[in-house]
Amino acid sequence: MTSDTRFWHPFADMAAVRGSELVIAEGDGCYVTDTEGKRYFDGTASLWCVNVGHGREEIVQAVAAQMRELSSYSTFGAFSNRPAEALAERLAAYAEGVVEQPHVFFNLGGSDAIDTAAKLARRYFSAIGEPDRVHIIGRVKAYHGVHALGTSIGGIPANQEGMGPLDPETSHVPWDSLEALEAEFERVGTQRVAAVFAEPVIGAGGVHRVPPGYLQGLAELCRRHGALFVADSVIAGFGRLGTWYGIDRFDVRPDMITFAKGVTSGYLPLGGIVVGGRVAEPFWTRGGLWFRHGQTYSGHPTCCVAAQANLDIIEREGLLDRGRELEVEMASALGTLEGHELVGGIRAGIGTLGAVAFEAGALAEHPDLPARTFSAARERGLFVRPLGDAVALSPPLIATREEIDRAAQTIGEACDAVAADLGRAAAAAG
Ligand SMILES: Cc1ncc(COP(=O)(O)O)c(C=O)c1O
Repeated sequence: MTSDTRFWHPFADMAAVRGSELVIAEGDGCYVTDTEGKRYFDGTASLWCVNVGHGREEIVQAVAAQMRELSSYSTFGAFSNRPAEALAERLAAYAEGVVEQPHVFFNLGGSDAIDTAAKLARRYFSAIGEPDRVHIIGRVKAYHGVHALGTSIGGIPANQEGMGPLDPETSHVPWDSLEALEAEFERVGTQRVAAVFAEPVIGAGGVHRVPPGYLQGLAELCRRHGALFVADSVIAGFGRLGTWYGIDRFDVRPDMITFAKGVTSGYLPLGGIVVGGRVAEPFWTRGGLWFRHGQTYSGHPTCCVAAQANLDIIEREGLLDRGRELEVEMASALGTLEGHELVGGIRAGIGTLGAVAFEAGALAEHPDLPARTFSAARERGLFVRPLGDAVALSPPLIATREEIDRAAQTIGEACDAVAADLGRAAAAAG
């Protein structure tokens, strides 16, 4: 085996990737530059996360200052640090009115947050004398990270294939049907469901917006059956849906909210959960009851100051409001692609995330359409994300209307180029 690199990329076909890596060297605002000097509009904000854009000096300064003072220290047991305390305070304040009596548990990213929330749901019920409540319901198309429980709760079969037995106390329902969810509660046994996990808008599963009333209905079913509602706002938070947590766009009160990504705009790894008072109460009041969970870097002071500096930018620059404006601009810009011979539909209109879905017949004939379109857009200086039947766009929240229009136009040009290639190949074959 020969390879120039020892770096095994996540979610990668290394046989294809090795030797053809796209090495990103610099970032500035909505743009990144590779080591060949080619500049790209970062239409995916890395992985839906660089909400304030690249190269923010004030985050760099805050991080450097904190590292000089105290770079890292455990928060196990009674140990604490000021950045973690201040950030928990701020994130809890943002959750007031959304989560009842919010508490904040920190870890390192979205997958961590999901597995923390799932374990905490089960631990909570065991603590209050309902040890049979262990079942967790997820939704088809949902993505909840890659840790052991998140892999099971997520609803993208390719991510589960060959990974051995999934957690037997998890199951999936269609992503948009309350009837199916209600039936699943009955099938599992209403006294056995610990939690239902749901993204406010499905992201990695292809950008799917829930039907009106769906999340309210889901929350109501959880309430009626005594289960917890965990809103996975790992993508949706910190302006991506135009509010702090994304789920606050909908009139619902989750028991927990998982967050990551935009909390630091990806400058340093950080994730966590906002936990409501109902779940926190036994752990915070009953002596001897521990949640025996957490990582070396939970409450990492340097990551927490990166978050603070990032949140300062979001507040100062009004990026929550900008997120709301962008959703309209994106829907309108992507809407211009309707009618393209390869395009089957546009999924956009809530949050700064959208998807251009390919026409079903064309996709059946050429399942690599999303990958081809990604490559054609990349050649034209734009990053989009191939996801299922679509390519997705989720730029930083500082993108301008002009940049959004240009990105949509580039996707159109990429689709034209792909269609022309397919036409040429068909002519050559025929
Ligand atoms: C909704 C959702 N939950 C969880 C995760 C996992 O987050 P991470 O990749 O930070 O572990 C992601 C990542 O994309 C996500 O989109």
